[in-house]
Parts: sequence; structure tokens; C-alpha cells
Amino acid sequence: MGSVRWAFRCGSWTPTRSDWLFAARCIQQEEKDRIGQFVFAKDAKSAMAGRLLLRKCVYERMGIPWSEIRLERSPRGKPYLAAPLKVSPDSGPEPPAWSFNVSHQGDYAVLAAEQGVQVGVDIMKTTMPGSSSVPEFFRIMTRQFTAYEWSVIQSGGLEHQQLAAFYRHWALKESFIKAIGTGLGFNLQRVEFHLSSEPLTQKYALRQTKMHLDEEEEYDWLFERLHPALPPPTSFTLLSFSDLIASASPLTEEDPACWDSFKMKAEAPQRQRETHTAK
Ligand SMILES: CC(C)(COP(=O)(O)OP(=O)(O)OC[C@H]1O[C@@H](n2cnc3c(N)ncnc32)[C@H](O)[C@@H]1OP(=O)(O)O)[C@@H](O)C(=O)NCCC(=O)NCCS
Repeated sequence: MGSVRWAFRCGSWTPTRSDWLFAARCIQQEEKDRIGQFVFAKDAKSAMAGRLLLRKCVYERMGIPWSEIRLERSPRGKPYLAAPLKVSPDSGPEPPAWSFNVSHQGDYAVLAAEQGVQVGVDIMKTTMPGSSSVPEFFRIMTRQFTAYEWSVIQSGGLEHQQLAAFYRHWALKESFIKAIGTGLGFNLQRVEFHLSSEPLTQKYALRQTKMHLDEEEEYDWLFERLHPALPPPTSFTLLSFSDLIASASPLTEEDPACWDSFKMKAEAPQRQRETHTAK
């Protein structure tokens, strides 16, 4: 069965005019319009990268011509392939369907795709909470984790270790709700994660995480913990912008206004820019 793990460093991507205009031509009009509405360049770039990752995956792994790919969103926002419905033109048996999902945060946009099973992906950067202390942040988040998960998260001595454990648990919960597509309407107390204490290494991706759903251990789900900065096969294959658009072909006419609007955007909110420069 096919499997894809791709990453693109959208945070450090500084598109030229022709890069941005070409990318904008290669995604669906409504997505181009949506991306144009972001206030900050970092959000526009990560959303653009997400769309290109999805289309590249559908084109290269499912063999669907770029111009025929029609992505739509479920009522809760999960992108899926709406057309063409039949992948192989002959009457032979259909290969198992692909499932795909993207996530973007911090410096990275990532895609995970799997053939024959549902997939969800979530990338998390360990950041200090913006306006509150760590204990206050944890207090606000109390209801998102079970008592057992909190005991594990708070067993780390230093605050940054606790935060790292917090984000590991959070990413697992999000990846699950993104696989099932329900979005954040799902009661996160229903799922409880049991992580192994092994650190991420270059040798292999961690696959020992177990999930309990409504207090029963689930055996049908596999959770992979990957670090985007580690090389494959442990982690994602890092793509350049050239890789991202290697198979792309334009769907719409060039729209110079789309670059004019992009270059007017500030990279990120002031507070985030200050945090990044202070590192
Ligand atoms: C899906 C969701 C969990 C993503 O959270 P996040 O960690 O902030 O974002 P990520 O970067 O990991 O993922 C964003 C990507 O996930 C995908 N996505 C959006 N909604 C999704 C869903 N319900 N399920 C799976 N994937 C989803 C999209 O590709 C999105 O990127 P894009 O908008 O640029 O295309 C969150 O946005 C959410 O809960 N959305 C649904 C809201 C909802 O339930 N609304 C109810 C309406 S009744």
C-alpha cells in the first residue's frame, strides 16, 4: 500500500513574484481567493503550500491529471478528492482509495497520505503560551486531556519539558480527529493517549503510541511520531519549492493583483515576529 510523508518549509519560503503568481494559478479559484484573504503572509504561504502538497500527491500517486483534480471540503473542512470519482479509466478493479491530510504550523507545512486507510496529520511547534504562564495555560486546557494524560504531561520537571509533552499529546489528539474529520466538535476526553517514553531518533519513527477510545484500547489505529527536521525514512521527505510545483500546471490566468496583495502583507503578528527575533 502506498504511503507519503512530505514536508515543505513554508516559514522560510520567500516566494518571488513569479513563484507566487505561478503557485496561485495552479490551485482552484476559491482556494486562491481564500488565501488572498489572510492578513499575514505566513498564513497565506502555509495554506498555499498545503494546497500544492495535496494536488501534487493526487497527481503523482493517484495518476490524475492536474487540471482534472477537483478538491472540495467536507462540511467540517476536511479536503477530499471530489472528482474524478473513478481513478482508472478501464473496467478493472479500483485500487484502494488514497486518504490524505495536511497540517501547517511554525516553519512547516506537511502532508501525510495513505492508501486503503484513513489518515490524519498534525504538526506542532513547542512554543511558550502567548499571554499566560504555563500553569495558567494548562489550567485553561484542563478539559482537553484526561487525568492520566495530565499526570504524564506534568511529570516532566522543567516547564519546557512539560510543554513538549503537552504538545505531543495535543498533536496526537488532533491527528486522530483530523483522520476522522470531525474537527474540534469532538469531545477530546473520549480519547486517551499512552505514549512510550522513547525519544525521537534518526533511526526509526515511533509507532508504539496506544490510544484508548471511551476507555477501551483501540487496535485499529497506528500513530506515528515524527520530527520534521530528521531525514527520511524516519521522517518526512523535505521538498523544495521546485519539487512542490514540479508537476503543477496552471488552472487559471495570471492575476497580478494576487501578488500585489501578497507583498503588502506583514509576515506575522508583531508579537510572533518579536519572539522569533529574540531566539
Ligand atoms: C481541523 C482542525 C482540527 C485543524 O486544526 P489546526 O491544528 O488548527 O490546523 P492544521 O494546520 O493541523 O490543519 C489545517 C488543515 O487541516 C485540514 N482540515 C480542515 N478541517 C479539517 C477537518 N475537519 N478534518 C481534517 N482535516 C481538516 C485543512 O487542509 C487545513 O488546511 P487548509 O485550511 O489550509 O486547507 C480545526 O481547524 C477544526 O477543528 N476545524 C473544524 C471546525 C469545526 O469543527 N467546525 C464545525 C462546523 S459545524
